[in-house]
Amino acid sequence: MIITIDGPAGTGKSSIARLLAENIGYTFFDTGAMYRAVTYVLLDRKIPFTDKGQIEELLAYFDFRIETSAGEYHYYVDNKDVSHPIRSPLITKHVSEVAALAVVREKMVILQRRFAENGHSVFEGRDLGTVVFPNAELKVYLTASAEIRGERRFRELLFKRPSEAENLTKEQVTQDILRRDLQDSTRSESPLKIADDAKVIDTSFMTIEEVIGAILAFGIRPHAAS
Ligand code: DC
Repeated sequence: MIITIDGPAGTGKSSIARLLAENIGYTFFDTGAMYRAVTYVLLDRKIPFTDKGQIEELLAYFDFRIETSAGEYHYYVDNKDVSHPIRSPLITKHVSEVAALAVVREKMVILQRRFAENGHSVFEGRDLGTVVFPNAELKVYLTASAEIRGERRFRELLFKRPSEAENLTKEQVTQDILRRDLQDSTRSESPLKIADDAKVIDTSFMTIEEVIGAILAFGIRPHAAS
């Protein structure tokens, strides 16, 4: 069974998808991490986002791997752990631009579908229910007010990257989220939108546990039952 969880930044997608997957014995995939990893490699190798040929070449051998250790997810590109750098403000600033490139999306969709062959999975991102898995058994779309999403992201930054967060304000983080929302939802390739058959949950005033409870109530086949 495939469960897709789409929605804009700060709706709680990653935390909710990860905990839900753990609860029901499914594999969890954060597809945003893949777009972040591509952005990281392009910047690291100084490949311009406009150089389709070089990007194609890079993606032909794109070696992306996810590992879990002690309950933490680690993302590897060419055997290098990029889990921390892909969350930097620099990557966050450029990732929407990279995620809008057709050549990048085509390759990511192939990899995501390949990952799904492993069995029961929860995939979270922007286009999982609309493009990657249009036949997913359960599609969820999470939403929340921009103010609350900005506040959540700001607190997360303060906690996880205090030295970078001290140069930022909550308002700047909110503005950055709104800029990415606009870029992600107006691009021509697989824009962020609600699938016709998705269940929409506004997480603004809900705890993570409440959202997971609401998703479980839609009916999910536990892994052991398959
Ligand atoms: O969820 P996130 O903030 O880590 O996602 C990073 C960016 O990647 C986000 O700006 C949109 C893009 N993205 C996408 O276009 N499609 C996906 N399936 C997942 C993420």
